[in-house]
Amino acid sequence: DVAATGIVKPLPPELFIEHGTNAEMRWEAMSGQGHLTPADRFFVRNHVSTPLIDPRTWRLKLWGTGLHGAPAEDRPVEFSYADLLGLPSETLTAAIECTGNGRGFYTTQQGQQVSGTPWRLGAVGVARWRGVRLAHVLRRAGLTRGAVDILPRGLDADYVDKGENLGRVRRPLPVAKALKDVLLAYEMNGAPLPPDHGFPVRLVVPSWVGIASVKWVGDIQVADEPLFSPWNTRYYRLFGPGYPPEGSAPLTRMNVKAAFELPWDGTLQAGRRHVLKGRSWSGNGRVHRTEVSVDGGRSWHRARQHDAHAADTGWVRWEFPWRPDAPGRHELLARATDVTGASQPSTAAYNTLGYLFGAVVRHPVTLV
Ligand code: MTE
Repeated sequence: DVAATGIVKPLPPELFIEHGTNAEMRWEAMSGQGHLTPADRFFVRNHVSTPLIDPRTWRLKLWGTGLHGAPAEDRPVEFSYADLLGLPSETLTAAIECTGNGRGFYTTQQGQQVSGTPWRLGAVGVARWRGVRLAHVLRRAGLTRGAVDILPRGLDADYVDKGENLGRVRRPLPVAKALKDVLLAYEMNGAPLPPDHGFPVRLVVPSWVGIASVKWVGDIQVADEPLFSPWNTRYYRLFGPGYPPEGSAPLTRMNVKAAFELPWDGTLQAGRRHVLKGRSWSGNGRVHRTEVSVDGGRSWHRARQHDAHAADTGWVRWEFPWRPDAPGRHELLARATDVTGASQPSTAAYNTLGYLFGAVVRHPVTLV
C-alpha cells in the first residue's frame, strides 16, 4: 500500500516547498523552534511514494555471506517489530541531510547546470532518534569477522530512472560504519516514526549523506565482499571535469553549512534592531564558529553560538544583532567553520549532479 499523493503528511505552503515527490523545509519554519526539527516540518526526500506498512506483518530480514551459516535471501534471520522494541534501546540526536541540499545555488549563484532536485537549504533536519543499534542486531544475526559491507533495502516501490528500472532503494554501507554509530530507529522526537520518515523502522547513519539512512528498511544483505548498487555507483559520487569516468569514491560525510531562519527573499524593517538567527551544522563534527556578513562578504562578524553541549551530529543555533538603516535590496551571508577547520568558500566546486554545495549562500532580503 502506498500514499496516493507521494507524501502522507500535510505540506502547508508556509512550511514547505514541494519538488515532485520531495518537500523541503522553509527555513523560517525553524524560527522560534528548539534544538530539534519537529516531525511536521522535517523535509521529505522520496524516490517514489511513501509506503504504508503494517508493523504486525513487517519483518527485518538479514541474510548473506557475512553472517554465520550464510543464510540465503529466502531463508533469512528475521526480527519482528516487537522483537526490535524488546531489544536494548538507545537515543541519538543526529541530522539527516540530502547530499543535494543547496543544489539550486549551483545554478542561481554560480550559473551552472546540474541535474537533480533544485533544493535551497531546506533538505536538512535534526531529530532525536530512538531505536536499536545496528551493531546489536548484526551481532545477534551472526555477523562474521569477514563481513565487509551491508546493503539495507527499502520497502518502497522500484525506482525507475528515465525508463530504466533500478529496483528498490538500497545503498551499501561499510561494516565499520555500521558497527560504529548507526541506529535502526523506530522513534523520531519521542513518537513512532511518521510514515514519510520510514515507519516502522529506518536507518539513521549520523554525519553521512542522507541516502545512507534507508527508510522503511525491509532487509539487509551482509556480505564478505564489497557491494554495489546504483546508489553508490551511478549516484552519490562526484562526476564531471577533474573526476575519473566512474566518478569519485562514493560520498560519505556531509560538509559544513549555515542557514538563516528567515524567509527567502522576505522583507525586514529598516531603522530598527533585528536579531538575525540561524543554525550551522557539519558532517565532520561540531561547528566551532559562525560568522555573518551584512555587507556582501566584505567584512565578517562572529555570531553568538548556542548549544555548546549539543551532539556533534546535530547543529548549533546562533544569533547576530543587526540594525540596518538604508532601505532596498540586501544580501545576508553566513559562514560556518567546523572542528576540522573546514569552512565555506565563496564558490562551490562543480559536479554534474550538484552534490555537496558548500559555498556561502547569499540570502536576499528587502529592507523597507
Ligand atoms: N530510503 C528509501 N527506502 N527510499 C528513499 O527514497 N531517500 C533517501 C533516504 N532514505 C530514501 C530513503 C534520501 S536521498 C534521504 S536525503 C533521506 O532518506 C531523507 O530522509 P527523510 O525523508 O526522512 O527526510
